[in-house]
Amino acid sequence: MPGGGVVITGTTDTSRIEAPVTVKAYFICAFAAFGGIFFGYDTGWMGGVLAMPYFIRQYTGKPYPAAGDTVAKAAFHLPASDQSLTTSILSCGTFFGALIAGDLADAIGRRTTIIAGCGIFTIGCILEIASTGLGLMVPGRLIAGVGVGFISAIVILYMSEIAPKKVRGAVVSGYQFCITIGILLANCVVYATQNRDDTGSYRIPIGIQFLWAVILAIGLFILPESPRYYVKKGKLEKAAKALASVRGQPIDSDYIQDELAEIIANHEYEMQVIPQTTWIGSWANCFRGSIFKGVSNSRRTTVGILMQMMQQLTGINFIFYFGTVFFTSLGTISNPFLITLITTLVNVCSTPISFWAVERFGRRTLLIVGASGMVIMQFIVGIIGVTAGKEQGTKTNHAAVSAMVAFICFNISFFAATWGPCAWVVIGEIFPIPIRSRGVGISTSSNWFWNCIIAVITPYLVGTSPGDANLGAKVFFLWGSLCCLSLAFAYFFVPETKGLSLEQVDKMMEESNARHSAKWVPHSTFAHEMGLTKKGVSISGTNADIKAAVIQHEAETKNETDL
Ligand code: BGC
Repeated sequence: MPGGGVVITGTTDTSRIEAPVTVKAYFICAFAAFGGIFFGYDTGWMGGVLAMPYFIRQYTGKPYPAAGDTVAKAAFHLPASDQSLTTSILSCGTFFGALIAGDLADAIGRRTTIIAGCGIFTIGCILEIASTGLGLMVPGRLIAGVGVGFISAIVILYMSEIAPKKVRGAVVSGYQFCITIGILLANCVVYATQNRDDTGSYRIPIGIQFLWAVILAIGLFILPESPRYYVKKGKLEKAAKALASVRGQPIDSDYIQDELAEIIANHEYEMQVIPQTTWIGSWANCFRGSIFKGVSNSRRTTVGILMQMMQQLTGINFIFYFGTVFFTSLGTISNPFLITLITTLVNVCSTPISFWAVERFGRRTLLIVGASGMVIMQFIVGIIGVTAGKEQGTKTNHAAVSAMVAFICFNISFFAATWGPCAWVVIGEIFPIPIRSRGVGISTSSNWFWNCIIAVITPYLVGTSPGDANLGAKVFFLWGSLCCLSLAFAYFFVPETKGLSLEQVDKMMEESNARHSAKWVPHSTFAHEMGLTKKGVSISGTNADIKAAVIQHEAETKNETDL
């Protein structure tokens, strides 16, 4: 668009508000999903490292227990408080990281925030690698956590903003797929290094993470910024360039102009509804309006927070964090790595189902089906656990235990194909542009907050020490009941956003409610409503010029009505 001065006018045709997409453009969108590897890998390696003999000896100063010395063997571990601290401190960092990143992504851009996240993560990694005691490991985990928080929130935001509407759900599900691969990789690396009698045992798994940081940072350095960020900043020429790049279309094509006009018009519309105020005021904007009104900001923020909370309360991380201990306690399986491998593999292999299902059936349907499936699977596990699977003296019912393991795997499959990806897809789509980055940040923080709560409380739920709840297989009744809540939440509160542009989602939430949202069809464009189809805006202009065009349109419309 040399020299600027081009006036774009937008379209009244609802089918033309997004440019067609080339294969190259699909790759651009898919690359960002790589950020999920951080998330998965970083949550995946700690459990294994905490159980490594070399690591335990170095941190506790205890000698390796002699073969056959069962007492020394039982005492050869890190104190529970240290284990809890090193595990949960990551969630603490990610919680704050996601919140800060929401703010930063509006100030310095989505891409730059993700690259900054990679930088912070690298500093945390260096401290973790250098550590020979908790003194450095804990701050390292905290700092790396802040980086993961940046990445986990803003990758979702970035992907949702650049992905074409037809495949946005599938592309964001790719992020979840990368999370699952990250968890699997972490488990494999930890397995390969666990018996080394040197610092390589824990330094290698930690060090491998540098690779993820370098790949993501370099990749994003090359990728374009989100055009919606530029529109928010009033940099329309840059927005046009970025949009042309992510759609793989010439910058002066009608398609790019129509799509850009729609994004600009929607932004203008939202700016009228959500006035920009001070820094505190803009945070308060996330909670404006009545929670009972489907379109209000407070409602959208609450749905984002609850969405991620319910995802964690499905109990999936009970299986990933404590599955090994639980399966071993059932008495028939002696190789903990095998169990971990099976559960993580089921998770990886089931996630791609969502690529297709999320666009075929929609987010809402998937969430409802997924929650129903998990309720059934978890109750079956609980029922077998308290009946046929119950310990009877020294005898173990092998068939019952195998059945429990099978149903737990089905449960993982349901999660991986539904709530795993959809929770991320939905939070990337439900917020209007003025509060989108903060909304996604707050929702992601909720994920990490509940992730931490689960990590801290579950050992007590299934623990057998005095004072522990010692629930055993009954814990699945708890998760099953919580999945009933997730089901109700999805049915009453989650709107269907499949196939709509982010701007159309905004309109749908205004005109429909969650239960009827799937039937809503776009009937007008923001460009038309805001008068851009008549007047247009100069993309070398500023936000003030756009405002002037919009105000003029409103005055004209009012005159026409008065006449
Ligand atoms: C969740 C994680 C979970 C992972 C399992 C993610 O969507 O947020 O807490 O460990 O899925 O695949």
